Amino acid sequence: GSSSKETSSSSSGGEKGKSGDDIQELTIKISHVVAENTPKQAGAIAMKEYIEKESGGKIKVQVYPNSQLFGDKDEYQNLVANNVQFIIPDMSKMVGNDPGFNVPAMPFLFKDDAAAEAFWDGEKGKEIFKRLEKDGVLGLAMWPNGAKHMTNNKKAISKPEDLKGLKIRTQGGQLLEEIYGKLNAGSVSIPFNELYTALQQGTVDGEENTFSNIESKKFDEVQKYTTVMGHTRVDYALLTNTKFWDSLNEKTKEIVQKGVDQGTKVARESAKKLNDESLKKLKDRGQTKINELSPAEIEGFKKELQPIYDEWAKKIGEDIIKDAESKNK
Ligand code: LMR
Repeated sequence: GSSSKETSSSSSGGEKGKSGDDIQELTIKISHVVAENTPKQAGAIAMKEYIEKESGGKIKVQVYPNSQLFGDKDEYQNLVANNVQFIIPDMSKMVGNDPGFNVPAMPFLFKDDAAAEAFWDGEKGKEIFKRLEKDGVLGLAMWPNGAKHMTNNKKAISKPEDLKGLKIRTQGGQLLEEIYGKLNAGSVSIPFNELYTALQQGTVDGEENTFSNIESKKFDEVQKYTTVMGHTRVDYALLTNTKFWDSLNEKTKEIVQKGVDQGTKVARESAKKLNDESLKKLKDRGQTKINELSPAEIEGFKKELQPIYDEWAKKIGEDIIKDAESKNK
């Protein structure tokens, strides 16, 4: 139809508008894999609303949640191809692009969202984003989701030995695999949109995620146990296509950039709130038994995983990890 024609000609080229001073007529697509009631969707909708309003409707922003447009396996390549203008992947799915994206998977590194935000807003975080430019991709901002916790369908977990023999789904990457290896559990990476079924059918016994993702995808229907651990994090990279970005004239780029800033603000403000609300909902629904670890029990996991932390600090870069640790102060 005419709308798809408009999308491809204006978003991938835009030469006609670029030289002018007018706001360019564009259709921008934002694609992501999680549900509507999440910080990622809240940020994406805030971007959409800002950009559409400030452009007087000249720029249309289409938001596709729930892997409707692209999923974990193909969203990055479609961003590179400019079939989508913004994606917001979990950094754990980006570790093949650069080892720096392992930072959120470093066990017990950041104490809260603010520390993680400060790292990615800082010099070292920006350096990691910059390394995507070789793909024609620009890293614009970090959006937090929050700390991850373990769920499974086999048993209550309170100490490292309890993981033995379980098969756990991870978002991807060798570091998460090694964490489970150290705990004598098996692991496999499965795309987010296949995870509910994998848990239901017993392809895997468990997974690790934020309360927001667990609750909004109803994983508690198929996971009898949840262990509040906060050992790793979900943090997102808001990415755009360099060619698309460079095709925007000054006026248009300013609106889109401010939309990005607004999305970042809303995503950051809503992350903790939505996770707290989701934990409460999970408790109210009562389908998964929630086990909050004591500080001593957390310390047990920390100690067990320390060798992995030390090994990966070297792989990621000691300077990067030192800088990340300094944000906890
Ligand atoms: C997951 O796959 O569990 C998460 O990375 C999904 C997301 O984007 O938060």
